[in-house]
Amino acid sequence: TGFLSQLRSGLSKLGFPAEVLDILFNWVDDGGDHLKIPEARGSLSALRNEAFFVPLHELYLTYGGIFRLTFGPKNFLIVSDPAIAKHILKENSKGYSKGVLAEILDFVMGKGLIPADGEVWRVRRRAIVPALHQKYVAAMINLFGQATDRLSQKLDAAASNGEDVEMESLFSRLTLDVIGKAVFNYDFDSLTYDTGIVEAVYTVLREAEDRSVSPIPFWEIPIWKDISPKQKKVNEALKLVNDALDNLISICKRMVDEEDLQFHEEYMNEQDPSILHFLLASGDDVSSKQLRDDLMTMLIAGHETSAAVLTWTFYLLSKEPAAMSKLQQEVDLVLGDRFPTIEDMKRLKYTTRVINESLRLYPQPPVLIRRSLENDTLGKYPIKRGEDIFISVWNLHRSPHLWDDAEKFKPERWPLDGPNPNETNQNFRYLPFGGGPRKCVGDVFATFETIVAVAMLVQRFNFEMALGAPEVKMTTGATIHTTEGLKMSVTRRIKPPIFPTLEPVLRVDPSGSSSHQGKA
Ligand code: HEM
Repeated sequence: TGFLSQLRSGLSKLGFPAEVLDILFNWVDDGGDHLKIPEARGSLSALRNEAFFVPLHELYLTYGGIFRLTFGPKNFLIVSDPAIAKHILKENSKGYSKGVLAEILDFVMGKGLIPADGEVWRVRRRAIVPALHQKYVAAMINLFGQATDRLSQKLDAAASNGEDVEMESLFSRLTLDVIGKAVFNYDFDSLTYDTGIVEAVYTVLREAEDRSVSPIPFWEIPIWKDISPKQKKVNEALKLVNDALDNLISICKRMVDEEDLQFHEEYMNEQDPSILHFLLASGDDVSSKQLRDDLMTMLIAGHETSAAVLTWTFYLLSKEPAAMSKLQQEVDLVLGDRFPTIEDMKRLKYTTRVINESLRLYPQPPVLIRRSLENDTLGKYPIKRGEDIFISVWNLHRSPHLWDDAEKFKPERWPLDGPNPNETNQNFRYLPFGGGPRKCVGDVFATFETIVAVAMLVQRFNFEMALGAPEVKMTTGATIHTTEGLKMSVTRRIKPPIFPTLEPVLRVDPSGSSSHQGKA
C-alpha cells in the first residue's frame, strides 16, 4: 500500500486527474481489496453542533449507500443502502456485534439484552421474548389507556387555565409510567409526582445519552471519574435505581413463591402482569445482576423511544391539519368516547398509518450501531474485522432514491387495507424496529402504546403549536429530541351538539343502541 500510495501521489503531481487515479487505484489496490470504499472527511465540531445524522444525510447524497467517514484517528462506515443493511442485520447477523454501543452503555445496561452479544444474548433473548405474548400485550392496552387518561387530566387543567403545555416532557412521563408498570410492576406515577426515583432515572438516562454522543470517554479518565460532581451524581442515581430494581425483584420473588398458578405459555398473573413476574414464574435461572441488567435495558429501551415517537407524531400532525382531522374523524367513529380495546387496534387503521409515517420520518434511534467480528463483503466492498458501522435508518427512511416525496409526511403512502409496513415487506428500506434476530422485542407493545395515546388524546383535545413557541429543532442522544421542547396549546374538543329533532324524521333504533354516549 505504501508503494501504491507513493505511486499515486507521484502520478497526481504529474497532472493525472483524480477521477482517473480513483478508477485506476480502485483496481490495483493492495491484494484482496479490489475496490475502495468512498471516503468522506468530517469535522468533530460539525458533528457536535447539530443532530449528527443530518450532515450524514448530505454525505450520503454525495458518496452513496456506503462510505467511510474519517475524523482524526477515528473512522466509521456509514451504511444507507437497504441491501447492505439487510446483509448486516439479517443475512450475516452473526458476523456483527453491538461494538461501541455495548461499551458506552455498559455502566447502565451491563449485559442486558440490547448491548449483549453471543451466547449471553442468545440465552436472554430466548427467556424474554415469550414474556411479551399476545395475552400480555392485550392486558397492556388497559394500562396504556389509564396512563393516557392521567395525562388527559393534566391537559384538561391546562386547557381550562389557558396554559400552554410542553408535550415532550409529558410524553416522557407518560411512557415512563407505562414501562415501569409493564416491565417490573412499579408505579412511577411521574405524571403526578416528582419523586427521587424519577429524578434518578432521568439522571441515568441523560448520562447514557451524553456518553453516546461524546467524542472522548471522559467517564474513563481515572481521577476525574471519582471527583467530578456530575459523575458522583450519576453514580448515586444509578445506585438508587439499581437498589429499587433489586427490591422489586425480591418483592416479585415472594409473590411468585406464594402463588399457585401453573406456568404455561400464556402465563400471566392478573394482579401483576409484568415481564419480571413472567420471568420469575418461568423459573428463569439467572443471576440477579443479569436480571437487573435486562430490566434496566427494557426500562430505557421502552421509555425514551415511545416518548420520542409521540413527540414527533404530534409535531408532524400540527403541521398537517388535514391529516389531523382525518385522524380525529377515524377516532370519533371507532372509539366514540370509550377507552380503546385490543379489538380497536386493527380498526384504528389511519391512526396506525400516522404512527408508521412518524416512525419513517423520525426513526428512534436514527442510527443502528454494529462492529464487524470478521472480514466480510458489504455490497461490492471487502471490509475487515473490527470496523465500526453506523446503519443510518434516517438516510434509508428519507432517501430520495427509495421514496416518493421522501421528506413529506404522508400517512396515505401506505394503503389502509394493505399490510402494516415493516422491514420485511419493505425490503429493508423501512426499519422502524430494526430487523433480523436483533429486532425490537417490544414492537407490537410500542405500536399499540402509541396508537392508544394518540387516539385518546386527539379524541379529547385539539393541539396546535403554542403562540410564540420556540422553533422545533432536533438534537440527539439515543433518540431524537427537540432542542427546546414541544410547546403546544390544547383545547378541549367540543362535540357537535345533538339537537332534539322536532319532526320524527329520524327513527330511533328500537334496540336503543344509540351511538352517542354523551360526555363532551
Ligand atoms: C431493540 C426500536 C420500544 C425493547 C430495538 C431496535 C430498535 C428498536 C430499532 C433494534 C436495535 C438494533 O438493532 O441495534 C424501538 C422503538 C420503540 C421501541 C422505535 C418504540 C416506539 C421498545 C419497548 C421495549 C423494547 C416498549 C420493551 C418492552 C427492546 C429490546 C431490544 C430492542 C430489549 C433489543 C433486542 C435484541 O437485541 O435482541 N428497539 N423500540 N423496545 N428493543 Fe425496542
